Amino acid sequence: MLNIILAGAPGSGKGTQSAFIAQKYGLKHLSTGDVLRAEIATGSELGKQIDALISKGNLVPDDMMYGVIESYISGLPKDCKGTIFDGYPRTVAQAQSLTKLLQKYEMEAIMIDLLVDEQLLIQRLIERGKVSGRADDNLNTIRHRIAVYHQQTEPIAHYYLHHGNYFAVNGNHTMADVFLQIMRIVDGYKNR
Ligand code: AP5
Ligand code: MG
Repeated sequence: MLNIILAGAPGSGKGTQSAFIAQKYGLKHLSTGDVLRAEIATGSELGKQIDALISKGNLVPDDMMYGVIESYISGLPKDCKGTIFDGYPRTVAQAQSLTKLLQKYEMEAIMIDLLVDEQLLIQRLIERGKVSGRADDNLNTIRHRIAVYHQQTEPIAHYYLHHGNYFAVNGNHTMADVFLQIMRIVDGYKNR
């Protein structure tokens, strides 16, 4: 079982690289952002609450995310080769609860952190915003998302460093080059 936490700032390439990794290694891809956007699309009351947070670039509360992850992990088929967690965990509290949940099912995860310069993040998201239709792909919200990332999400790198399963990737390069770096890490981990 190979579980990968793909971390990084907004626009760092989590979604892009998750698709490559899922295809190459036969893993499931769980994007918590996509799960939340799907809930918004239903037009439910919960979706409206989520929309109010996401469109401003704020995080959804940890307890709401816990339910999503708990039901995902408990429902995994026995023959699952592993999961790429894209956008989860995003706070130290989420990292702690994910560790406990994985332990309950005798699983573990490595964190791969996509490091990208801020100017490039903004450029990529502004460009994507022209076609994505995402309410949070505008300059003000992008800046706020990056600030939230520094305050609330970046500290999880220390959590995984401390637990000895942290790997950093230079995400400033081309998609193909970033994927090469990720494959080196994953193959090294599988053959350890
Ligand atoms: P989420 O959907 O996870 O958004 P995000 O973290 O802001 O990241 P993005 O999806 O914008 O970027 P990405 O890293 O996936 O990059 P991508 O590959 O698309 O979360 C949205 C919101 O949901 C959060 O703000 C929060 O409110 C909520 N949420 C989600 N999870 C949560 C959680 N766990 N707890 C609480 N709240 C949560 O690439 C971006 C662009 O760059 C694309 O156009 C792509 O083509 C391009 N690109 C990618 N790589 C390269 C490259 N190497 N070179 C050139 N261009 C590239
Ligand atoms: Mg994404």
